[in-house]
Amino acid sequence: MDGKAVEAFIRRYAELIAAHKEELTQLDAAIGDADHGTNMDRGMKAALEKLPSEGTPGDILKAVAMALISHVGGAAGPLYGTAFLRASQSLGNDREVSPEAMARAFAAALKGIQDRGKAVLGDKTMVDAFQPAVEAMEKALQEGKPWKEALQAAYEAAKEGSDATIPLVARKGRASYLGERSAGHRDPGSLSTALLFEAALILGDEP
Ligand SMILES: Nc1ncnc2c1ncn2[C@@H]1O[C@H](COP(=O)(O)OP(=O)(O)O)[C@@H](O)[C@H]1O
Ligand SMILES: [Mg+2]
Repeated sequence: MDGKAVEAFIRRYAELIAAHKEELTQLDAAIGDADHGTNMDRGMKAALEKLPSEGTPGDILKAVAMALISHVGGAAGPLYGTAFLRASQSLGNDREVSPEAMARAFAAALKGIQDRGKAVLGDKTMVDAFQPAVEAMEKALQEGKPWKEALQAAYEAAKEGSDATIPLVARKGRASYLGERSAGHRDPGSLSTALLFEAALILGDEP
């Protein structure tokens, strides 16, 4: 995968966030402060403005990180910003990256989210979608499955992980202030993460 492939992934993510902006905001209205959709949409639109032309995969992801950190307030901006930054650092300056390198970048992104936010699986956050997705991607590649299948497995795991947040009581972020009342609602960040892995399917179109 080259910079163009990663740029297509980011453009697809911005499209999916825009298409799901209302839904993300509605989910956040139920257990937060009704801004997750507008936050992410603002951040991704800012990211599109900052994309370098002819950048390496790492350059593209770094530009997204910087845009999210400076344009998205609240919890999700710094968390996704850190995720994209760690992914960028993991890819280094290579102009072409392998599926294995991309899987390591997704794992580095997850680690960044957890270093920063301290959430673990079951806390009803984006980690509940991100961690199963990374694990499914790594497992598929270890089993020798094609990259396209690894991406599909990651996307399905992220969706299932997001579904699994519905009954949970939040232990991190704003939703945790609601205690038991947070149960029965999907975590909004888990949906924006499922959309990230949906966008990543486009990386499987590369030879
Ligand atoms: N400590 C954390 N670790 C991981 N994710 C978190 C954490 N705190 C909040 N989140 C995620 O951020 C999402 C909320 O994002 P957003 O609404 O944009 O920010 P804010 O909560 O500041 O309004 C939550 O749905 C959750 O997935
Ligand atoms: Mg919010």
